[in-house]
Amino acid sequence: MDNPFYGRDIVSIKDFSRDDLEYLFSKTDRFSENATGDSQMLRHKVLGLMFFEPSTRTRLSFEAAMAALGGISLGFSEPTLSAAEKGENLSDTVRTMGQYADVLVLRHQKEGAAKFAAEISERPVINGGSGSEEHPTQAMLDLYTMKKEKGTIDELRIAIVGDLKYGRTVYSLLYALSNYAPKVYLISPPPLKIRREALLQVEDKIEISEHESLDDLEESLDIIYVTRIQRERFPDPQEYERVKGSYRIDLPTLEKKGKDVVIMHPFPRADEIHPGIDGTRHAKYFNQIFNGKLIRAVLLGLVLTKDFE
Ligand code: NCD
Repeated sequence: MDNPFYGRDIVSIKDFSRDDLEYLFSKTDRFSENATGDSQMLRHKVLGLMFFEPSTRTRLSFEAAMAALGGISLGFSEPTLSAAEKGENLSDTVRTMGQYADVLVLRHQKEGAAKFAAEISERPVINGGSGSEEHPTQAMLDLYTMKKEKGTIDELRIAIVGDLKYGRTVYSLLYALSNYAPKVYLISPPPLKIRREALLQVEDKIEISEHESLDDLEESLDIIYVTRIQRERFPDPQEYERVKGSYRIDLPTLEKKGKDVVIMHPFPRADEIHPGIDGTRHAKYFNQIFNGKLIRAVLLGLVLTKDFE
């Protein structure tokens, strides 16, 4: 199969098929087996980072990935450090970055920002999070982690728990999973249910059901994907006060949900995972963080070079 990522924008995970994702995962397996830490595949290539919203893992993993391949990164990690603070529009910022960088990563508070940037940019644009819309590279590393931990994505029973209304990682995850055949349980307090338009897009493709609490499920689970309440996206602070602290994964949850259940979380976390879980073999969130660097390194390699090995 020809490299399906070469020269492409990564705006929505919906633009990528199961075959594309599997291509990325097998390249990532190969890369992690062979990585000696001194690859020069992206020597002289430049990654341009434009972060209009806070980030720890997405930005650092892209930087670490670029460094691992011999490339360099430049950019800004908050808008007050760019001319956006002086009123520069997004279009001029994106075009400027394209003069210096070969590929751009944009994180922005507005839905549609990554799509807009991709339309005007002559360089490939990777969406590092667009409002509450999508976070496609997070879904890539999430599925890769699931596959690594469980050997497959088909047949898995996956609960996605938390802020399903505003969490952009949830949307990309759900769209990505709809290429496979898992059973998905969406668990949230009623005010944080998944947005209907997304459910309509996936409900004919995968088995999916909605619940208010993990306790409502009889079945054991393979994966519990926990998310943080996206406080900054609530239009009304009182709405946030009503739902905060309304769910938590603790040690009894693990016992009830099966001896091999894996706990994932895109991070950052607030208090939705009991700290006692960190030391158990169920906790895989730091593996996700590690896999994020691998996936993003391979993705950058594939976007920038036709024959990335
Ligand atoms: C997430 C994000 O920014 O959407 N973080 C991440 O990139 N792993 C999740 C969040 O902020 O809750």
